[in-house]
Amino acid sequence: MGLSGRDLVEMGDLDDDEVRSILARAKALRGADGRPTPTRTLEGGIVATLFFEASTRTRLSFESAAHRLGATTLGFADAGATSQSKGETLEDTVRIASAYADAIVLRHPEHGSALRAAAAASIPVINAGDGAGEHPTQALLDLFTIGAERGSMGDNHVVLLGDLRHGRTVHSLAPLLARFGNRLSFVAPDGLAMPPEVTERCLAAGATPRQTTDPKQVLADADVLYVTRVQKERFPDAAAYAAARGSYIVDDAFLAAAPDDITILHPLPRLDEIPSGTDARPNAAYFRQAANGVLVRMALLEAILGP
Ligand code: NCD
Repeated sequence: MGLSGRDLVEMGDLDDDEVRSILARAKALRGADGRPTPTRTLEGGIVATLFFEASTRTRLSFESAAHRLGATTLGFADAGATSQSKGETLEDTVRIASAYADAIVLRHPEHGSALRAAAAASIPVINAGDGAGEHPTQALLDLFTIGAERGSMGDNHVVLLGDLRHGRTVHSLAPLLARFGNRLSFVAPDGLAMPPEVTERCLAAGATPRQTTDPKQVLADADVLYVTRVQKERFPDAAAYAAARGSYIVDDAFLAAAPDDITILHPLPRLDEIPSGTDARPNAAYFRQAANGVLVRMALLEAILGP
């Protein structure tokens, strides 16, 4: 496929055929019981997970994926315990990790950090979230989940809802959905709309997203509702966060405006934007979505670290 040895910093680093091929491999890795089939394709390999910012799913699913491929992992989930606390630069940290591992999975609070790391590292760098920038591996698993839940990765009307300004998952996902022929609507409270450069990437890919603060305007014919958390850690102060939080609550009253079979996704963690009462709906797919992360990250690690 030609992905061997490459970085994945932003979604645009992969062309459509490369995305299709990774997701086809992810599907093939799903066993009859629905769980990932272990392989030994990366036996002896070492994946470094360097997480300078909080994570549950992304780090654990990358580590699970590496182990299921026969590779091992090293790294940290709390940068306070590393030489960063002594003032070491990101560049020096990834230079050192380049000597100890075969690929780096990096999460960092600064937008642009993954690009800087890729420039300094001598091994592939995979962006696992750079501040309010991008989160391309989440977008891959989101597209995979839409294909699995809806039967097609294109031709869906996908409503992206919540903090679209700071939510890095939607910055990677929206243009990817546009590339695959989906129709897009963006619903965000005032001040938290999708950044114009992301909307421009959607337009360049042939979609014309509808933008509104009112979900009722777009839900009636939606196939997928992708909910995001208001990103508390990106707000300058508690009052600004408090004003934005609770704008949309995806409960039965909210969903009354949507088709009964609407697929509900969320990258998680969810706070009160999706109450637990919504979980019992057959098309509340966010936990299946999180499980798919292992399959997709297995396929990606194989492509980057394989022969
Ligand atoms: C997301 C993230 O870190 O950007 N989480 C994840 O990776 N599944 C979403 C979020 O934190 O709200």
